[in-house]
Amino acid sequence: MDPVYEKLRSCYQSCRERTDFQPKIALVLGSGLGEFAERIRIESVIEYSDIQGFPQSTVTGHRGRFVFGYVGSVPVVIMQGRVHYYEGYAMSDVVLPIRLMGLLGATVLFLTNAAGGIRKDFQAGTLMLLKDQISSFVPSPLIGANIEELGVRFPDMTEIYSRDLQEIIEWQAKEQEIPLQKGVYIQFTGPAYESPAEVQMARLLGADACGMSTACEAVAGHHMGMQVCGISCITNMASGITDRPLSHQEVQETANRIGKQFQTLVWHSIEAMGKER
Ligand code: HPA
Repeated sequence: MDPVYEKLRSCYQSCRERTDFQPKIALVLGSGLGEFAERIRIESVIEYSDIQGFPQSTVTGHRGRFVFGYVGSVPVVIMQGRVHYYEGYAMSDVVLPIRLMGLLGATVLFLTNAAGGIRKDFQAGTLMLLKDQISSFVPSPLIGANIEELGVRFPDMTEIYSRDLQEIIEWQAKEQEIPLQKGVYIQFTGPAYESPAEVQMARLLGADACGMSTACEAVAGHHMGMQVCGISCITNMASGITDRPLSHQEVQETANRIGKQFQTLVWHSIEAMGKER
């Protein structure tokens, strides 16, 4: 068996020894959204460190566990803490948790993150619905032997972010009176924030926000047939857009400030998605 698939299967077995929970929706929590997991009706929790071979998140402020439970009546699995490429893991390890949640039964992948705002009409605190992405600056998670059990060798990427799910989220934002922008996300490797010239390049390429996660996860989820959606919390304007230097502290502060609104939008969107599935 392909070693990447073998590891995935073994992590799957390890989870199944601990829970038989069947999630419909997989949610990845970015900075500042972490406490969302504590608001749901929790059925079980698996620490990443209890899954043999599972990549461990090393960033302070990021936890490392799967939380299984219900948002209203919708069964979900939540990643409280994700793994980033800049932590030194192979891309196949970075997306292993996404694939694992797919194998556990999730048909929807809901990605969230903190991101730098590139578009000038954004500001710290803007929420941006992802309509497309640029992942060309990080290695594809699909490089290597194709795992036929998951998807095809040359997957179509015309609609990485499901239009149906975008509509649901936009509708919920209106209902909840939460301002929501829409844009293109670009993933860089990090861990350094971008230089102003890199941000200008990203702008010319059509990106509205930049970050260090998400796009690779969306590719892996879409490859295996999950319906994908994503929301960025613009925690700061990207480098050079304003003359303020960037700091992880500002990112965390904005994420905490907007956290409640962000959580409300995610909560209602998941409930609405659950009804349609
Ligand atoms: N750049 C990259 N990643 C980020 C940023 C940024 O400006 N803000 C939060 N995550």
